[in-house]
Amino acid sequence: MQEANNHTAKRGTFSSGFGVLAATLGSAVGLGNIWKFPYLTGANGGAGFLLIYLLATLVIGLPVMMAELAVGRQARSNPITALQKLAPKGQPWWLIGAAGMIAAFLILSFYSEVVAWVFAYVFKAIGGSILSNDPHVTEAAFNAMIGDPVQSLLWQWGVLIFIGGILLLGVTKGIEALAKKLMPLLFLLLLVLCAVSLSLDKASEGLAFLFNPDFSKITSSAILTAMGLAFFKLSLGMGAMLTYGSYFRDDQNIPMTTVRVMAADLCVSMLAGMAIFPAVFTFGFAPAAGPALVFITIPAVFSQIPMGQLLMVAFFVLAAIAATGAMLSLTEVPVVILHERLNIPRRRATMLTILSLALLGSTCALTNNVLANFKLFGLNMFDLYDFISSNVILPAGGILLAVFVGWVWGKEKFGHALSNQGKLNNPTVTRAAFFLLRYVSPVLTLLVMLKGLNLL
Ligand code: PFF
Repeated sequence: MQEANNHTAKRGTFSSGFGVLAATLGSAVGLGNIWKFPYLTGANGGAGFLLIYLLATLVIGLPVMMAELAVGRQARSNPITALQKLAPKGQPWWLIGAAGMIAAFLILSFYSEVVAWVFAYVFKAIGGSILSNDPHVTEAAFNAMIGDPVQSLLWQWGVLIFIGGILLLGVTKGIEALAKKLMPLLFLLLLVLCAVSLSLDKASEGLAFLFNPDFSKITSSAILTAMGLAFFKLSLGMGAMLTYGSYFRDDQNIPMTTVRVMAADLCVSMLAGMAIFPAVFTFGFAPAAGPALVFITIPAVFSQIPMGQLLMVAFFVLAAIAATGAMLSLTEVPVVILHERLNIPRRRATMLTILSLALLGSTCALTNNVLANFKLFGLNMFDLYDFISSNVILPAGGILLAVFVGWVWGKEKFGHALSNQGKLNNPTVTRAAFFLLRYVSPVLTLLVMLKGLNLL
């Protein structure tokens, strides 16, 4: 206990209001904005899907995010200890934190491989080797890279070492300092790309794909997808926001930060969609999903735009920045759990986490080559980790956290935490968030989750 208190006393914190916002937004903004959001929106019925995503974000995402940040800050501990501290003795609510850590490992395993491709493409874009207006050529280049086990592993491990290096610098000098520099740069690059794309011939077709409502596509699995995306986008259910909440200053306005992060994250997603689809349609490509969109279509599109090579470098740098902030927040989860629970020095906890991720993650790096035929439940490792985390653990963690705050921790303590112990006058916000957490978010999440998994 003495040891644990020592760690608590020495914990890092985000030092400024802007730093908190940048780091928290850095966690939310990630590859989710660039390859999940635009494609899923276009493919699932445009404005209709957007509406459901917005609804899911408002009634589930926002209150759950406030709950995670409030629990984290109140307990000032890693996700497992935080729930142990706040729950009545003997009740196993800490399992939410443990599940979050498992989700963090699974997500990081496949995500780090996609980030590896992004980093590789920054260099390939600079070298010009992927610049071709023939999608067959860009496809062959992409397949050659992911089909090569050595390249795949080395890029992935390189990314993990890079992330580990930043985390070794600590919360304030590593995470916060970097986020403060990178987030404004990200917005700038995004605006430039958007302006170029919207000035192209068939920009309106791209916008129509993104926004025209097609309600026939709103199926129960589309609704599960929208909800899963709301969790994934705001980095919920994986312990990341709970951990970052534990670094918030006492005077940080949690509801305000949550709303700002959600709004800015949505902005980035929409801008990404508006940067990608007008260009894709102008050059007559079919909008593809996920990896194919980013690594095959985009290079082919950029090669036809004036200054395309420069813009392509900008695009992949932008994606790399987004991915870095998101990975930092998620890797911090196991690091701080190992550090505080097992009393391992932060340095060693970081190295241990990176090493475990390199091992588990290699099953994803090898999915497209050596392990191509290895499947469990009909899915390769990459898709399996994505499915289990996004569709099962994140929503389940969200439900349990909502139930914990709504029914166990209670309105008074939650209200105290959200109002900075009564210093902010925000009873309406607290009441609304608490109502949603107690009655709406868990029921809705459960229904959608069971229906989407064909269990209902
Ligand atoms: N909010 C992140 C995103 O949209 O990309 C989710 C995330 C994924 C965070 C992977 C961290 C991470 F490593």
